Amino acid sequence: MGSLANKKPHAVCIPYPAQGHINPMLMLAKLLHGRGFHITFVLTEFNYSRLVRSQGPEAVKGLADFRYEAIPDGLPISDDDATQDIPALTDSTTKNFLAPFRCLIAKLNDYSPPVSCIVSDGNMTFTLDAAREFGIPEILLWTASACGFLAYIHYQHLVDRGLIPLKNSADMSNGYLDTRVDWIPGLTDSMSLKDFPSFIRTTDAKDIMLNFFLRETSRVTMADSIIINSFEDLEGPTLTSLQSILPPIYTVGPLSVLARRAVPNESDLAAITASLWKEDKTCFNWLDGKQLASVVYVNFGSIIVMTKEQLVEFAWGLANSCYHFLWVIRPDQVKGESAVLPPEFMEVVKERGLVVRWCAQEELLTHPAVGVFLTHSGWNSTLESLCGGVPMICWPLYAEQQTNCKYSCTDWGVGMEINNDVRRNEVEELIREMMGGVNGKKMRENAVKWKESAAKAAGPNGSSVVNLDRVVNEVLRRC
Ligand code: UDX
Repeated sequence: MGSLANKKPHAVCIPYPAQGHINPMLMLAKLLHGRGFHITFVLTEFNYSRLVRSQGPEAVKGLADFRYEAIPDGLPISDDDATQDIPALTDSTTKNFLAPFRCLIAKLNDYSPPVSCIVSDGNMTFTLDAAREFGIPEILLWTASACGFLAYIHYQHLVDRGLIPLKNSADMSNGYLDTRVDWIPGLTDSMSLKDFPSFIRTTDAKDIMLNFFLRETSRVTMADSIIINSFEDLEGPTLTSLQSILPPIYTVGPLSVLARRAVPNESDLAAITASLWKEDKTCFNWLDGKQLASVVYVNFGSIIVMTKEQLVEFAWGLANSCYHFLWVIRPDQVKGESAVLPPEFMEVVKERGLVVRWCAQEELLTHPAVGVFLTHSGWNSTLESLCGGVPMICWPLYAEQQTNCKYSCTDWGVGMEINNDVRRNEVEELIREMMGGVNGKKMRENAVKWKESAAKAAGPNGSSVVNLDRVVNEVLRRC
């Protein structure tokens, strides 16, 4: 190793092992690389193999100073390309990841520039123990919304007040979840229990996910700093509240916009991708032929699965709306079976639809033909939609999607929610309202304003760019 390379600061970036976490961490890693860091990007062996299968062996080749490494995830070995069981994986991160991660850092210290800092997902706080052992600073990247973060942080208060876990399963449907929670500074006054991240919806005090977030949020205070993939204009009051209870917090989002501006299109760095599915390129040609804001784009992210009945309700809602639609259905989208759409619906697809398995979503949401995004309100999807100036129809199911949906539909004025028990009539009505109604027009205008606001935060001297510089300088000073 040459002496110049040895002088580079070395950041080990480790995302939680799911697509919605890997993407923002990869963008952050690219931005740090652009600021002179040697990068080690750590995937699980499972995701490393998936990346090779979906993108080819070149995908993990990296660059001389941007390397991929893999650690085991502690789950039974599988070459299935379906999303892993999230509770099992999450549980495993707390039990099985620290030992191989510690070995990896020791190995890197021997063979590359010594590790100067850890940049870890906010849901992987075992890494803080490694940072302490090696005496190096750690930045946590919270990949989701600040409002979701603040809601998770108050899980403990909900437990202390006896509001969660639920007393019995009837509380899921008897109006109990409408209980107002208007006493958390920084969260919107109209919050109810149903707007909190989904893991409160359990009667089991030992529930893996509930306890995971109780534990993780109690440990984040050990980090040197926390960065959030959001921006100040969007979540100001929430950030002020977080700032009063956590280590220094910096918003550095939307990371996708910062990375797009910082990394030249044709560079080797831009070619580094971590998409676990192969993208279907036909979407763009298909969209190119469509009129401005005339297409309904549907995608439920990388994790959630739905029932066959729900899939069929969405299908007929789309068909009956009479608009063009582009629907991304992952091969593992439907619980326990492959997603099969009714043959009569496939006739409608031939006329005015396109169904694919995976697409380059961030880019697609900037296409002028996209009129509305029917989404599960995952945070990356929400941000990407705002950055494209596209309003949303929200169907949140899991994690902090409920909180993102709440803010999209109230404070940010860019979304309308579909009932959890989805019905085709409601899908049709909301699509018509969003595409042609007064509400839809207003929400599109709001979305365009957020697009401008996001571009400002990520532009020259924007708050997120300045914050990233501050956090980088801070970490360089410490390491
Ligand atoms: C989930 C949650 O929804 C999120 O809020 C949580 O904090 C992390 O886990 P996921 O369900 O995958 O993530 O949704 P989302 O956060 O929207 O992330 C999906 C990512 O995959 C986005 O960056 C999106 O652009 C990308 N994607 C998705 C594609 O590139 N192509 C697709 O076809 C679908």
